[in-house]
Amino acid sequence: MAAAGPSFWLGNETLKVPVALFALNRRRLCDRLRQNKDVQKNSIVLLQGGEETQRYCTDTGIVFRQESYFHWTFGVTEAGCFGAVDVDTGRSMIFVPQLPESYAVWMGKIHPPEYFKKKYAVDEVHYVNEISNVLASKKPSVLLTLRGVNTDSGNISKEASFEGISQFNVNNKILHPEIAECRVIKTDMELEVLRYTNKISSEAHKEVMKAVKAGMKEYELESLFQHYCYTRGGMRHTSYTCICGSGENSSVLHYGHAGAPNDKTIEDGDLCLFDMGGEYYCYGSDITCTFPANGKFTPDQKAIYEAVLKSSRAVMKAVKPGVAWPDMHRLADRVHLEELTKIGILKGNVDDMVKVHLGAIFMPHGLGHLLGIDVHDVGGYPEGVDRIDLPGLRSLRTARNLEQGMVLTIEPGIYFIDHLLDQALRDPAQSCFINNDVLQRFRGFGGVRIEDDIAVTASGMELLTCVPRTVEEIEAFMAEGQSSVKSFDSLSSQKQ
Ligand code: GLY
Ligand code: MN
Ligand code: MN
Repeated sequence: MAAAGPSFWLGNETLKVPVALFALNRRRLCDRLRQNKDVQKNSIVLLQGGEETQRYCTDTGIVFRQESYFHWTFGVTEAGCFGAVDVDTGRSMIFVPQLPESYAVWMGKIHPPEYFKKKYAVDEVHYVNEISNVLASKKPSVLLTLRGVNTDSGNISKEASFEGISQFNVNNKILHPEIAECRVIKTDMELEVLRYTNKISSEAHKEVMKAVKAGMKEYELESLFQHYCYTRGGMRHTSYTCICGSGENSSVLHYGHAGAPNDKTIEDGDLCLFDMGGEYYCYGSDITCTFPANGKFTPDQKAIYEAVLKSSRAVMKAVKPGVAWPDMHRLADRVHLEELTKIGILKGNVDDMVKVHLGAIFMPHGLGHLLGIDVHDVGGYPEGVDRIDLPGLRSLRTARNLEQGMVLTIEPGIYFIDHLLDQALRDPAQSCFINNDVLQRFRGFGGVRIEDDIAVTASGMELLTCVPRTVEEIEAFMAEGQSSVKSFDSLSSQKQ
């Protein structure tokens, strides 16, 4: 059901997102705050949006992306704004920069406040330089500003500040846990956007699988993914730096950064582990596909792939409200250990392997994380939920119990990382489970990760990602895809 009122839309086949999504977010936030005994009557939430930045000391602009909490609350795409919400009445205000006349020459039309009022369906719009007077006229008992640690990065959110704020009573403690908690549970309107980001990103992954062949550079596939997401999905940003690891690079968990910029030539026989997600109107996706560059799994590649698929599907079957996320991580680990034993890499009793945390040698990262406006979305460790300080589990970005409306990734993986394998071989408690002669065959294999995005429903989960997943599906899809690419190639060469 389409909500009435204005929408964000980039035309063509892109998704129309009603800005009513943000009105509902604000309403949910105010409802929560009013139930908090520390929130006084006549409080005002005050948030500061992101600022436009330049490259180092130059005047070259960096493509702007809104600050996530500000986006969640107002859906405003412009830089340099503030926003406020009266907690008792829900009345919403945004403050936009008063732009100099030169803006009209260099940057384009200067819109009046009325334009933003309509665009974002808020109650009031003022200029940023009026913020002190406007807020003073509301006589708030307190301004609730945002200060808190992001539990993934350890960074602190930027608290709103403006000239004249010292005349107000400010509390920067209450808001952060409350708004983070709101962000953890997605509304139906938010879910619609996440379904869309998954649909487009899944299609983009399929385009990549069709196009890949030995001899290409990893970055060519990164580029194809981004092109598809932007041209078909209106996704100017990806949710994170694309990870396009082939061959041994598939075992580098966050490959693709400046020191390893997806620049290897893909070879026949390589596994490709491509972890890429498009972002639309600041809502993300996070999908990993692992497949053989030449379209056909070797027996060893198939065995490891199917071990990971088995753990992924076991977790999906078990997911429902009330389930503890660390238990899902343990479940995936156990399936990996069982399957690695069947393959012959490991030997012995799986319960005993679990006791010495052998699973973390093969899956050193967490099973998955909350997803939303941030790829590693906020709220993973609220007060009372502690990180489990054990191998593998300590990398989990949340240890919460699942609730309906949470969106998470399920991303088990098995990797052959020399550094960790050597460490396990040096430790008698772990090495006794390893068949080193079989393991040798997997040195340099790389890794397999299968990453899907899911929403927790009342009785289970909804799978948002839609890509070929079984070995048979992947091989059939790639055979068909590559022949269609080839016939297209031959068609275009005929024309010339
Ligand atoms: N793309 C980073 C992750 O999977 O969490
Ligand atoms: Mn990922
Ligand atoms: Mn992920």
